[in-house]
Amino acid sequence: MFSEPLISQQEIEQAIVTMAQAIDADYAGENLLLVGVLKGSLYFLADLSRALKTPVEIDFVQVSTYGQQQTSSGVFKLVKDLDINIEGRHVLIVEDIVDSGLTLSRLVELFQTRRPKSLRIATLLNKPKARKIDVQIDYVGFEIPNQFVVGYGLDDSERFRNLPHIATFSKPE
Ligand code: IMP
Repeated sequence: MFSEPLISQQEIEQAIVTMAQAIDADYAGENLLLVGVLKGSLYFLADLSRALKTPVEIDFVQVSTYGQQQTSSGVFKLVKDLDINIEGRHVLIVEDIVDSGLTLSRLVELFQTRRPKSLRIATLLNKPKARKIDVQIDYVGFEIPNQFVVGYGLDDSERFRNLPHIATFSKPE
């Protein structure tokens, strides 16, 4: 069952403009590699990259920590690795949501071994109350309560990614 939009399409657009301005200011004169975490970041990455003035390249990773459940299983598997070598590059990981922090902490650990020039994190949504592992997030769109949400890339068992807004979702009994 969907809620009314928790975050509207307009609010998302506005937050992305604000975030892009902050990123442009921080990386002035530099090139940036955006790394989207599939699949949830697909719309966020598409919109954020087009709002940026900084020259970017785009790559993707896919990890699985969740399976079909709504709670993290804690098992991290790299399903698809980067195509681009990140050594000496400014890298910005683009995530849909930070929940327990498990996915990002493992990704950051892995990427650091490849010696990027810098490594930062941008997430559209942050659920600070769900955190199990501390992760430093550099750019956040919205802090949300510890509820399961869908839309704008986020899914429930692969459904509802294409909702244009974010809504809370609970499975019917
Ligand atoms: P974490 O490792 O627990 O921080 O989870 C990160 C990943 O879990 C995200 O990239 C999402 O794919 C998924 N996830 C976490 N919370 C939600 C949610 O509320 N709705 C949909 N997917 C979620």
